[in-house]
Amino acid sequence: HASLRLGIAGLGTVGASVVRGLRAHGDELAERCGRRLVVRAVCARDRTRDRGVDLSGINWIQDPVRLAESPDIDVFVELIGGASGPAEDSVRAALASGKHVVTANKALLARHGVELARLAEKRGVSLNFEAAVAGGIPIIKTLRESLAGNRVDRIFGILNGTCNYILTRMQNERLSFDVCLKEAQRLGYAETDPTFDVGGFDTAHKLALLTSLAFGSEIDVDAIAIEGITDVTLDDIEKADELGYRIKLLAIAERAPSGAITQRVHPTMVPKSSAIARIDGVLNAVAVEADFVGKLMLVGPGAGGDATASSVIGDVADIARGTALSVMGKPAEHMTPYLKSNGAEH
Ligand code: NDP
Ligand code: HSE
Repeated sequence: HASLRLGIAGLGTVGASVVRGLRAHGDELAERCGRRLVVRAVCARDRTRDRGVDLSGINWIQDPVRLAESPDIDVFVELIGGASGPAEDSVRAALASGKHVVTANKALLARHGVELARLAEKRGVSLNFEAAVAGGIPIIKTLRESLAGNRVDRIFGILNGTCNYILTRMQNERLSFDVCLKEAQRLGYAETDPTFDVGGFDTAHKLALLTSLAFGSEIDVDAIAIEGITDVTLDDIEKADELGYRIKLLAIAERAPSGAITQRVHPTMVPKSSAIARIDGVLNAVAVEADFVGKLMLVGPGAGGDATASSVIGDVADIARGTALSVMGKPAEHMTPYLKSNGAEH
């Protein structure tokens, strides 16, 4: 089997972890996938920065679009971030030139996911984004594959590691919002502009993707009522505590009796005895209520380089094995693919 050649754009928190993970588990991945996963080329803004990873033997192609179009790669891994600019341009270029794409970029998918899925469909390549929702939790695969035999009625959870980290430390240590946010940034959890986190927008981007997959509806981030955590004070947290509650930033999508899907993001008082109240720090949780499976909840790290890289590498492995779902037929509009191998060459 020929090796699968990767181009990775972005070598920050997530990108550097992906390169490290691929090196650390190169042999096991080759065995599990039946072929080697080889990083052929990378890019970032600053070529001189030490990223703590071994880049020897890997080409540097400064321009992400050129990297995406390179005939030397089979899969383009976008880890730059942002709903437009170099991330969008390079993903479009990669799909247009027939490359599979793996991305962690929920902002991009929440805005342009449908269009990008159509482009992927047209070119017969896959567009994988497990890392875009809840970091290391395999919720995309769970919804698309494991729960395919259900009608989902409700999906809710904690989808932003930064906000949950801030609320947890405010709660447990009575630290100020600003101190907690700085720490979340230092740990690599926050978005480049942390307004996306604390304003609830990042949670909304993720919810929009989950809603589309869970309910087969078109991604509609503008339909989400959004309130972030910037107005949550230490006093609010203490008052809630006295009453037996924790404050969590929840994302909720549910099917009303009329059949309409509602989506919302807001700080919520949850009883201390509930499972969701005990999701602390950078952990995320996604709860699904569906007709056959009943209720389930997945819990795991929602942010951080290595946890997110775990999802990115899982997506790449699916492409290498030829088990990645492609976006096929009309459901591409909802990014809700039928089970079908993408036909990646072996
Ligand atoms: P970082 O800011 O740490 O890394 C971004 C990388 O993109 C940097 O290496 C930067 O280069 C590079 N970059 C920026 N602009 C350009 C450009 N024009 N050309 C080439 N390279 C460029 O971000 P993260 O790693 O934290 O996030 C990456 C993506 O993953 C985002 O979409 C984010 O939302 C998503 N994500 C992040 C998680 C996390 O925990 N951090 C979790 C889940 C998803 P340089 O280093 O030289 O500045
Ligand atoms: N900034 C995001 C978070 C990264 O804190 O959850 C993971 O998507």
